[in-house]
Parts: sequence; structure tokens; C-alpha cells
Amino acid sequence: MNSYSFPPEFVSDLRSRIDIVELVGDYVALTKAGANYKGLCPFHGEKTPSFTVNQAKAIFHCFGCGEGGDVIGFLKRIENLSYPETLVRLANRAGVDISPYERRRGSQEAQAKARSERERLENAVACAQNFFVRQLQANLRGKVGLYLRKRGIDPQQAQTFGLGFAPEAWTALKDELGRQGVDERVAVAAGLLVQKEGSSRRYDRFRDRLIFPIRDVGGAVVGFGGRSLGEAEPKYLNSPESPLFNKRRLLYDLHHARPAIVKSGSTFLVEGYMDALSLYLRGVDNVVATLGTALSAENVAAVKRYSNRVAIFFDNDRAGKAAAFRALPLFMAVGIMPDMVMLPDGVKDPDQLAGGLDDSALQQALSRQTPLFDFFLREKGVGLDGYNDRLLFLREVLAMIMLLPDDPLRGMAMRATAESLRLAEEIVLDEYRRIRQQSKPFPGREGEPDKIVASIGRSGLARTGAQPEEMILAAFLTYPQLQAEFGRDYLALVENADCCSLCQELAQCGADSDGGALLQQLYGSGAGEALCSLYARLINLPAPAEDLEVARKIVCDCLVSLRKRQGHEQSRNLDRKLSQCRDEEQMFALLRQKMELKKSLMAS
Ligand code: UTP
Ligand code: MN
Repeated sequence: MNSYSFPPEFVSDLRSRIDIVELVGDYVALTKAGANYKGLCPFHGEKTPSFTVNQAKAIFHCFGCGEGGDVIGFLKRIENLSYPETLVRLANRAGVDISPYERRRGSQEAQAKARSERERLENAVACAQNFFVRQLQANLRGKVGLYLRKRGIDPQQAQTFGLGFAPEAWTALKDELGRQGVDERVAVAAGLLVQKEGSSRRYDRFRDRLIFPIRDVGGAVVGFGGRSLGEAEPKYLNSPESPLFNKRRLLYDLHHARPAIVKSGSTFLVEGYMDALSLYLRGVDNVVATLGTALSAENVAAVKRYSNRVAIFFDNDRAGKAAAFRALPLFMAVGIMPDMVMLPDGVKDPDQLAGGLDDSALQQALSRQTPLFDFFLREKGVGLDGYNDRLLFLREVLAMIMLLPDDPLRGMAMRATAESLRLAEEIVLDEYRRIRQQSKPFPGREGEPDKIVASIGRSGLARTGAQPEEMILAAFLTYPQLQAEFGRDYLALVENADCCSLCQELAQCGADSDGGALLQQLYGSGAGEALCSLYARLINLPAPAEDLEVARKIVCDCLVSLRKRQGHEQSRNLDRKLSQCRDEEQMFALLRQKMELKKSLMAS
């Protein structure tokens, strides 16, 4: 982004040009309630609306979490933007010209230095996108044009999606970036050029491929997927991970689809770029795709932010089915019971379906849906004949049901489970209670310092009665990097075996994995009911800290509290030994230990 300097009058003028109801309405389904509009707060999880928008005053406020402000604050917060970025976005929305406020350019070099790394990557990627699009226009008569026609995409539609073409050459993009003054090292970091380790040669990553730009939710291009035009492997080549391009956080075409998703309240989730594109071109516009990776917990959170209904529409093969089943617990953990679109036999994927049907037949095909959970029960459960297999399956399913944050949903899922296994509902319920019991909240301990409760009071965790070892784990689950930072201290202080195991499982997933990986690890590998149910309880604690720094503070405070608890226990042990001690020398040693301990307790 260029850099701007906006005067205060500009800001207040801009504010008055944006209709807050319209802006918020892009993210939250609002209904009129008296003088205000109401909806479910996008900043914290809730089931009854306490998020209020006042159109006349142009402010929003959530009575649930206390978040509030004006249009600028809303957009900044929900899109996680800097203040200037927010103003630019709003100005574009309102059609206000901001060029008069652009800072005067210094030397090209100084300006490039002043830019943040992210901005430099963004700039390089934007240059590449421009180039690819121009190349496609210039080659419509060539091989890539033929390919587009074969796939039923006309040039106008290609333009709508910003499709591009990477020519069959080693340095076409590299040369262009050079002309644009993009630093080659930045282009390598953005994944546009490849540089092999130990070599100084840099060359184009994407060659002879149809290019699908991948945008963030704000519409900025952050990476590419390149489809080979023939048999070249791999079929799709994607941008590598970078600070700009994080597959776990991105969903293909979310920026296009978001208004339709909010409006319809539901999302189609497909596997491939082409699936999303074909459906969109056929008027099914509430559709997003994963980026060729397993669905992540972040993906699920993004979907949930905009809609509560999800239809999984994966390929009609074993891999598609397996991917859908892996996604199931992720959705259940946020209280969504997804549906699954059933493709007719012989139709391989949504793209093929969309290509072969007229509008009404397509609509009809899309309405062939079944709850994914029921499908899972049928596919995995019905064929089981051994008693032991069926019991294990029941427990696996119950561990998943425990993830659901809503009692009614749990009830419905248990009923479906009972029916599919031909068991009485009470039996299923009893077994559920038995497993649940295994992970009761820890009994409170005496002598907890008041300090932690004070510092976490605002976070909402204190209200849950959770113990420090659980609060820390809950923070680890939300921010795995905290596990990397504090996991060792944690394991040294905590005695509860389940808590320690969970902490270790999380460590195995790695610091930059998401909660989804852990969840799949736990639920897919029979980690044991106790661990699953501890996990289920932790993720169902209300409102874990929403920002990393608050979470880190909570972890530190809880560790202090655990250390004190350990200290007090050691002190009691020493007292016991002292009261039994008959040997003078040993007594002095014990006393010295006790003094040391006292000192360290006072210091912490
Ligand atoms: P598919 O193999 O189902 O592709 O992979 P597709 O959608 O049917 O593609 P077409 O119709 O043959 O062109 C689905 C998704 O998996 C990722 C891509 O994101 C693709 O859209 N993928 C697939 C890769 O990243 N690399 C590959 O080699 C293949
Ligand atoms: Mn496919």
C-alpha cells in the first residue's frame, strides 16, 4: 500500500459517507429492532443477539462482550487492518479519491525501505497478477485460450475471476518484475521466483500454466494456483507459504462469495478452484474452496464468521469422503452440523456437475443433501457386526458429540447415534454421561492467590471455575505458539496426567499447526476417552482470550499460581519432616530449605 497522511476533516467526512448498517451487514445478518439493528456479535461467540447497531448515531455496540465503536473501528477490528489501511478501504468503498493525501515520494529506494515486508510482498504479487492477466489477454488465441474454451470459460468470465497465464519461459515474469523495480529477493520470498539452495540463479516458478489468483477476504491477491495445461506435473502448483500467503487462513474466492454467504446464511465448501469457479459462473455464488490442503480450524472459524449453515460438496471419491469426515469434528466443535451434497453416481466433482446440467436441474442436484453426521454413522457404523467394534465406534462417536457446544444438538446427535446402532437412547445417554464424568472439572484448591483471578477476570475464564492448569491448556489450544514457549514449564509443574498428555499431543502437532490438527489427531487415533473429553471441555469454555498478548499474560499468571501451589506443597512436606525429625543436623538442613523456599515464594 502507498503511504498516506489523512487530515482529521477527511476522516470525519469519510465516516459520514459510510452507512454503518450496510457495512456491518456485509458481515452480520442484521434485523431491525426498534430504533436499532440487532445481530449475532462477530467478535465473540453467542447464540442470542446482543450486538446492536444504531444507524443514526453510526455506532455499534455489543452488550455481550463490550466491543463497540464506529465504522472505522468495526472494519479495522473485523478485518484486522491497520488504521491507515482501514481508511483506504473505506474511502474505496465510498468512492472517495485519496490521491491528494498520498505522501510525496522520496527516492524509490528510501520508499522501498520504509515499506513493511508485507507491503513489499503484496506489491510484488500485485505486479505478477497484472502481468499474468495481460499475458492471458495476449494469448487467447494460443494454447491457454484453447484450454479455457475446453473448460467452458469465456474471456469475459476469465476476467471476472482475474485468471491469468504464465508463459512457457524461465524468466518472463522475472524480467517483468525487474522492469517494475521489484527486488528479486522479495520476489523469491513471495514465491514468484524460485532460487535453489546454494545457487544464485533465480527463475519463474509458474511456467506454462493457467493462473488462478488467490485473494484474501479483502480482495487483495496474495498468492496463485497454477493449473498445468496438459499433462505436466503437478497438476496444480501453488504459491509457497509466506507471511502473505497462509493456506490455513485462506479460502479460495471468499472475498467474492462473502456477501452471498452472509445473505443466504449458508456456505458451499468445495475442494477445487475449478469447482468454486464453475458453480459461481452458474449462479451459485455462496461457494468457497480450500487450497488443496485439509480444512483447518481457521478455515472453519472463517466460515462460521459469515454463516451458520455449511454444505460440504467434495469430490465423489474415497478421498473426498475421507476429507469430509475429517472436517466433521472441526465443524462440530464450533456448533455447526454440516450437510453433505450427494453427487449422482458417475459425476466426479462439482465442476462436472455444474457443466452438465441446466439451471433447474443444477438447483435440484444441489438440494440433494444429507446431514454429514448421519452419513458418517451410516458409512462407518452400519456395517460393523462385532460387538466390540460397535462399542468402540459408539465411544468414538460420543467423543465427537462431546465437542458440540449446544445441548439440543447433542441430544439430536445422540438420538441419531442410537437409531443407527439400534440401541435404546437411554443406553447411549448413560454411556455419554459415563465418559463425560471421567473429566470432571478439578476440585478447587485452597489458598489460590487472588491475583490470578483478578487478572483473568475480564477474560471470562474465571467465571468457568476452571483451574490454572486448564486455563493454560485452553490458551495453548487457541495459540499453539504459547505451548512452544511455556510447554516445558507447564509439564514441570502439572501433575494431572491427562493435562500433561494433552500438552504433549499439542507439542507433537508443532507450534504452527492449528487446533484442527490436534483435534484430528485426538479423534482420529483413539487417543482415549478421557483425553477427548478433557479436550471437549476445554474448547467449550466460554471466550478464551481473544488476543495473543492477553493469552500470554493469563498463561504467565497461571504458571505463577501453579508455582506457588507447588511451593506451598513443598513447604507442607518440609513441616511434616521437621515435626518428625530427631537429628539436629538434619533439622538445620530442613530449616534452611524452608527459608529458601519462603524467600522464593515471596519473590514470585
Ligand atoms: P483436484 O485434483 O480435484 O482438481 O484437486 P480439480 O478441481 O478436479 O481440477 P481440474 O478440474 O482437474 O482442473 C482439488 C484441489 O487440490 C489442489 C488444488 O487446490 C485443486 O483445486 N491440488 C490438486 C493441488 O494443490 N495440487 C495438485 O497437484 C492437485
Ligand atoms: Mn476435482
